Amino acid sequence: MKALLHVGRPNIGNRERFLQRVNEILDRRWLSNNGPVVQEFEKRVAETLGVKHALAMCNATAAIEIACRALGLKGEVILPSYTFVATAHALHWQEITPVFCDMDPATHNIDPTKIERLITPKTTGIVGVHVWGRGCDTEAIQEIAARRNLKVMYDASHGFGCSKAGRMIGTFGECEVFSFHATKFINCLEGGVVATNNDELAYQMRMMTNFGFTDFDKVEYLGINGKMNEISAAMGMTNLEAIDEIITVNRQNYEAYKAGLANVPGVSVIDYDPAERNNYQYVVIEVDPEVCPRNRDEIVEALHAQNIIARKYFWPGCHRMEPYRSLQPNAGLLLPETERVSAKVIVLPTGQAVDVETVQRVCHLIRTHSKNR
Ligand SMILES: Cc1ncc(COP(=O)(O)O)c(C=O)c1O
Repeated sequence: MKALLHVGRPNIGNRERFLQRVNEILDRRWLSNNGPVVQEFEKRVAETLGVKHALAMCNATAAIEIACRALGLKGEVILPSYTFVATAHALHWQEITPVFCDMDPATHNIDPTKIERLITPKTTGIVGVHVWGRGCDTEAIQEIAARRNLKVMYDASHGFGCSKAGRMIGTFGECEVFSFHATKFINCLEGGVVATNNDELAYQMRMMTNFGFTDFDKVEYLGINGKMNEISAAMGMTNLEAIDEIITVNRQNYEAYKAGLANVPGVSVIDYDPAERNNYQYVVIEVDPEVCPRNRDEIVEALHAQNIIARKYFWPGCHRMEPYRSLQPNAGLLLPETERVSAKVIVLPTGQAVDVETVQRVCHLIRTHSKNR
């Protein structure tokens, strides 16, 4: 296999429609500052999620920071270590101490039974992450938060178009943050959205996203520049128009991987609950070191050698990355499942750039390279 095939290759909706939108934007000479395409994108996202407010921002990392500040999170905040490092960095950048909680190996999400032991007098909130778009145990998290007087928000970067217990992700906690980065199944080139039903919070976040301006020459908040530009929103709109097609392709690829890897000893593809809405944007396998004759790293190396850039997300866990590794050198003692599971996971390429025939070839390689030499 010659062509490079990597995880997160962008989906692109109707190119002509995108270029038409770009031309309209250039004709209008309205490139940023809450332009009409951003407004349209926000409306469409809010409708899809069934929330009152969807605030478009430049990326999810900045959006998490803005949401944290607007919520008044400070001191310590509990989050999973098993997430993309941006979740932890956003908190730390706001001078909040990220306190890493272990994951549930069955769901890859934060384990609510391990949250309470991490709460101290400095704890102000919990940031759950819907890893791979599979919803956290929002009910258990909410129950703990209500009892311990903590605020809850979610990093829903993976969860656009997904549901938990029949309810759309985007409607849980005080607010939820989505990523529309180029690697996400719906992308804005770069982009993020905060979804909330809280009017006051939405108002504050909107002001903060635009330097704190409430009117011409009037600044009421410490704000920053977190705005989404019009071209990004045009890409987002164009992809949103193709969401059903993209999910269909993702699902076909996912089913093909499942079929192609069935009966490979020690290799399992993680499941998506068919009773929920799923975007199938991640194909995630676990390589069980006790059953599979070859380890995860050997399989990844074999794939890379064939130009298939599979990824070891989110290995080795945020707690083993800087600055957390130095600041909290013993954090791993409380994170046994994160350490165990993150050493088993491989994320495989999917999306519109990958067809079923290619999936079958990748499966063939995994089958071949997971056997004894
Ligand atoms: C779980 C998670 N959180 C946050 C981010 C950061 O998103 P962005 O790149 O839009 O800042 C990502 C991915 O990029 C992610 O996967």
